[in-house]
Amino acid sequence: MPKIRFVSADGSQVQEFDAPVGLSVLEIAHENGIDLEGACEGSLACSTCHVIVDPLWYDQLEPPVEEEEDMLDLAFGLTHTSRLGCQIIMTEELDGLTVRLPSATRNMMVG
Ligand code: FES
Repeated sequence: MPKIRFVSADGSQVQEFDAPVGLSVLEIAHENGIDLEGACEGSLACSTCHVIVDPLWYDQLEPPVEEEEDMLDLAFGLTHTSRLGCQIIMTEELDGLTVRLPSATRNMMVG
């Protein structure tokens, strides 16, 4: 079973979990009590599932679709390797995928 690593926003903590193939990073975060909101439950209508992908892994992900790019534009603390966690689906090849939580989230639907 592939593994995923979540790095805390300040970089001080790394937690590794089993990452079943076919589950999204958001789903894996929720199963393991990681504080990633995911307000729209993966329907590309928020940016609260924003994660910062380790640059070593970023190019190995499927490129984001336009809707994801649009939502990411609204994400707080956007970086060059930002993605929406609900759109990253685990595969065997992504074993060891490392993502960092952004330092703050802000849901533009509310703000
Ligand atoms: S959970 Fe809303 S876009 Fe990912």
